[in-house]
Amino acid sequence: MDSGMRVPHTVDRRETAISGALPAGPHAQQSWSRYWDGNAGKAPEQAISEGRFGPVLRRHWEAVFKNSAAFPENGRMLDLACGAGVVGRLARDRVGGGIDIVGVDLSSAAARQAETGLVGNIALLPFGPGCFDRIVSQFGIEYAGLPAFREAARVLTPAGQFSAVVHVKHGAIWRENATCLDIVQRTMDAGILHKCRLRLQTGYKLDRGAAAPAAFDRRTAAFEAAARAVLVALRDAADCAAKAYIGQLLPDLFDIVSRRQNYAPEQLEDWMTGQEHTLEAYAFRMNAMLDASMSVEEVREAAGILSAAGDSKVAIDALSLGNHPDPAAWTVRVCRGRKLRARH
Ligand SMILES: C[S@@+](CC[C@H](N)C(=O)[O-])C[C@H]1O[C@@H](n2cnc3c(N)ncnc32)[C@H](O)[C@@H]1O
Repeated sequence: MDSGMRVPHTVDRRETAISGALPAGPHAQQSWSRYWDGNAGKAPEQAISEGRFGPVLRRHWEAVFKNSAAFPENGRMLDLACGAGVVGRLARDRVGGGIDIVGVDLSSAAARQAETGLVGNIALLPFGPGCFDRIVSQFGIEYAGLPAFREAARVLTPAGQFSAVVHVKHGAIWRENATCLDIVQRTMDAGILHKCRLRLQTGYKLDRGAAAPAAFDRRTAAFEAAARAVLVALRDAADCAAKAYIGQLLPDLFDIVSRRQNYAPEQLEDWMTGQEHTLEAYAFRMNAMLDASMSVEEVREAAGILSAAGDSKVAIDALSLGNHPDPAAWTVRVCRGRKLRARH
């Protein structure tokens, strides 16, 4: 990836060199990449929180970037955990071509999609001190916790500005993701995909005369018991993206087991493996989000790290998204070199 941008100080573009230091290791990297390689990557603007909150977030960032005069000539902006680069693109639209934007993300699939993305761990940034005039992050910095705030504090210039949108612990998105995780977890616990796979394999053997009908019946009963458990989970769950996904997966599974003769065994094995990866990555992502989201005390502590260097203005606000009455996100702004103001 080479965007023609000016690369600040020392930038390590080698994924392997950075991944060794990841707290969550290659598993996190792979799970996020599956997310960005999947539907999220096809429509990055829609990716965050299934897109319903997009307009509110867009308005927020437009307000942040509105004052383009505040961007120094040839200023440098860093987007932490940039994903597919949605915030960077908004900044470019708003501020114009005169800024260097660098995004950093754990996932190589995401970094590829962000025009100026590097693969890396935001808790260990490959940049020298004080080399960014602006640092932004949308539902990203919190995934690496306080070490990422310390790194942001280090690489921000003494008069720089930091602006982030972070998940609220027990807020509207948190609760929705907890619901999603519950249904995904119950689906995984039911072992439906494994039992579907065994039923398919035994079905193919039966077709070749290599399995007894009784063995096939046992596999069928096990698959149907798992499907009943998933149906109960679906019935219990409030509407959410995972409910829609599992609600579609279940009939798909029944469809393929009843029409296995129409497919080559390897084709269905690959399809099943893809579904297993999707479910695992989904559960990982929901768990990561629940863990990463922050209470107001945690946000205050994090903002304090950025403002500690001097005379800074801090603003922490709650952002409601869509029709949810509860806040879903904290917006955190730290403007260095200004007087302090804390609303929360
Ligand atoms: C919810 S997505 C948000 C992406 C992007 N900011 C957006 O709004 O579209 C969270 C992102 O954080 C990234 N991430 C998680 N932990 C990270 C870490 N330690 N270092 C860098 N990126 C990380 C993931 O790969 C993922 O792309």
